[in-house]
Amino acid sequence: MTKKIAILPGDGIGPEITEQAARVLGALGLDIEMSTAPVGGAAYDQHGHPLPPSTLKLAQESDAILFGAVGDWKYDNLERALRPEQAILGLRKALGLFANFRPAILYPQLANASSLKPEIVSGLDILIVRELTGDIYFGQPRGVREVADGPFKGERQGFDTMHYAESEVRRIAHVAFQAAAKRKGRLCSVDKANVLETSQFWRDIMIDVANEYPNVELSHMYVDNAAMQLVRAPKAFDVIVTGNLFGDILSDEAAMLTGSIGMLPSASLNDRNQGMYEPSHGSAPDIAGQGIANPLANILSVSMMLRYSFAETAAADAIEQAVSQVLDQGLRTGDIMAEGCRQVGTAEMGDAVVAALKNL
Ligand code: IPM
Ligand code: MG
Repeated sequence: MTKKIAILPGDGIGPEITEQAARVLGALGLDIEMSTAPVGGAAYDQHGHPLPPSTLKLAQESDAILFGAVGDWKYDNLERALRPEQAILGLRKALGLFANFRPAILYPQLANASSLKPEIVSGLDILIVRELTGDIYFGQPRGVREVADGPFKGERQGFDTMHYAESEVRRIAHVAFQAAAKRKGRLCSVDKANVLETSQFWRDIMIDVANEYPNVELSHMYVDNAAMQLVRAPKAFDVIVTGNLFGDILSDEAAMLTGSIGMLPSASLNDRNQGMYEPSHGSAPDIAGQGIANPLANILSVSMMLRYSFAETAAADAIEQAVSQVLDQGLRTGDIMAEGCRQVGTAEMGDAVVAALKNL
C-alpha cells in the first residue's frame, strides 16, 4: 500500500533540509506519496496560524511526517498561541505522539567535534526516550493568577501543573523497556523523586513495569545527577527514560556530547506507529537561505521513519550507510568542518548521499 508522507518544512533552514531529505526518500524506490504543507511561522504568514487546519488534517491523514524546523525571532512577540513552537506541541498532542526517541551517537568520523575529551565520548551511543505529551508541558491549570493568601497574598503569580496519569507512565515505560531490550539491556529512569510527588509515582510505576522485562536492568537517577553523569561518564548510559520536561533538557545536553547537533535525528511516535520525524536541531534563522545548513540530521530522520513507522529496515540501514560513506569521503558542512575535509553546502551534501545510496 502506498505510504503517505506529509512534508512540513517550516521556517529558517527547515525548507532547505527537508528538500534534501525528501530527495533521499524519493531515491529509495519505495511506494510513497509525499505532500507538503506550511507549518510554524511560515504557516502563520500564510494562514494566520502556526498549525492551520489544512496542515493538521494532512498530518493526521499521513502515515508519517517529515518535519523540518520552526521558529524565527520575528515571531517572538506574537501571543503564545500563535508562536511557531505551538505547531510542534499541537501536532504532538493532536496525533498522540507520546514516545520521543532521541539518539545521541558520536560518529567515529566526527570524534573531534565534541567539546569533551575523545576518551569520554568516543563510541558514544545512547538513546533518550522522552515522554512527549504529558507532564508540566500540558498540565492544567496553568496561567497567571492572584495569590489568595500567605506571604505573597495579593500579588500576581505564574503557575503550571506537573502531573502524570498511571497509563501515561506505563505506556512510555513499555516503549523504553522494549527499546532497551533491543540494545544493551540497560534502562535508566530519570526523575526527581527526592522532591516531586509526580516523580515518586513515575518511579513506582517504572519498578512495577520492570517485572515484565526480566532481561532489562532498571536503574534510577535524579535529574540533577543525570545532568552531571552525562558529561562525566556518558558511555555508562544505554537507554534513558524520562518525563517531558527533564527529557527536553537532557536531550539537548546529550546531543551536544556528540558536538554535532546537525547530525542527530529524532522520532516521535504514537501507539499506531504513526510518527513525526525531525532533526534535533532548530530552525537556525541566522543561516537560513544560504544553502550551508547540514541536512544530515533530517536525512537520518528519514532513516528513523523507515525503521520505526514502516519496518523498512534495509532501506533505513542503506541511508545510514550512505551517510557514513559521505563522511568517509571527507565531505562536511560548515558545522562539522574539520581539517583535511572538504566543505560542502546543503544541496551538495544531499547529492552526495543520493549518489552513495545508488552505489551501495
Ligand atoms: C524540543 C523543543 C520543543 C520542546 C519546543 C520547540 C516546544 O525544545 O523538541 O525539544 O520543548 O519540546
Ligand atoms: Mg528542546
